[in-house]
Amino acid sequence: MSDPRPRVLVTRRLPSAVVARLEAACDVDLHDDTEALSHDALCARVRGARGLVCMFNDRVDTAAIAAGDTLRVISTVAVGFDNIDVAAAAARGIVVTNTPDILSGATAELTWALILNVARRVGEGDRAIRRGDWHGWTFDFLLGRELAGKRLGIVGGGRIGRTVAAAASAFGMEVVFATRTGRQSVDGPGAVVSLDELLRTSDVVSLHVPLTDATRHLIDRRTLPRMKRSAILVNTSRGGVVDDAALAWALEERLIAGAGLDVFDGEPAVHPGLIARDNVCLTPHLGSATRETRTAMADLAARNVVEVLEGRPAVTPVGR
Ligand code: DGY
Repeated sequence: MSDPRPRVLVTRRLPSAVVARLEAACDVDLHDDTEALSHDALCARVRGARGLVCMFNDRVDTAAIAAGDTLRVISTVAVGFDNIDVAAAAARGIVVTNTPDILSGATAELTWALILNVARRVGEGDRAIRRGDWHGWTFDFLLGRELAGKRLGIVGGGRIGRTVAAAASAFGMEVVFATRTGRQSVDGPGAVVSLDELLRTSDVVSLHVPLTDATRHLIDRRTLPRMKRSAILVNTSRGGVVDDAALAWALEERLIAGAGLDVFDGEPAVHPGLIARDNVCLTPHLGSATRETRTAMADLAARNVVEVLEGRPAVTPVGR
């Protein structure tokens, strides 16, 4: 190691095996809690640290990066890195890393859970039973929408979107993609169409784009009315990609049929107009939340730190 026992700030409790991996190479300053550090506390503790292991909801902005006067690596335990000022880090020569690929399967599973839940009214049925509102089988109680023969529109041609697409044939769905990059094809099944065509023709629209200036409120009062009235919107990407107030309005006006949402603009706050609606399935940012995936993410984040601090290239630097 070029720098004997560098200090690494870890902003959340992580599996002990992962902490041990870091401890083998560094002095670990562990915020041993499930709750986040305040931004002020993060800025204070990052001073003098060589590495920072953070979560997607730690704000690593210009101030935090300036406070990290000796930082060489910022390693987020997430695929999304919209919480990190990557340009400010690059200007200081700090390597930024994330944890892509390993969470694609878990996030795709959760996406399908939301699609199926809303299409087949699983949450509504569960709540009806618990409320005592089920009085026996009837022919037309809680009729849902079948997926077979329908079109799944995936916004974003990245790994998670493609993993969602891979399961579509099992449900008899046709897939189309709209890509941010203007790519004309993606690996695997599904033609690439314009976002406008995807919104106009898809029965399920599922969002799989990172949050950037270009994707903020991609789904808003302008784009929602282009969707089919029978369509379902699913978001497991970032809350800011959807204007939640506009979505609550579109649902109220019955411009679309339902929504499955794992992420929210300003979470953990959720727009009251979404909470109020029975045709919306809400999950608390669970996309990558399986034991296997979270452990693998934390382990990859730790490996990234050790590689950089030992003078080797990061395993998964952002912008590869
Ligand atoms: C991510 O990886 O970006 C998720 O949102 C957090 O697990």
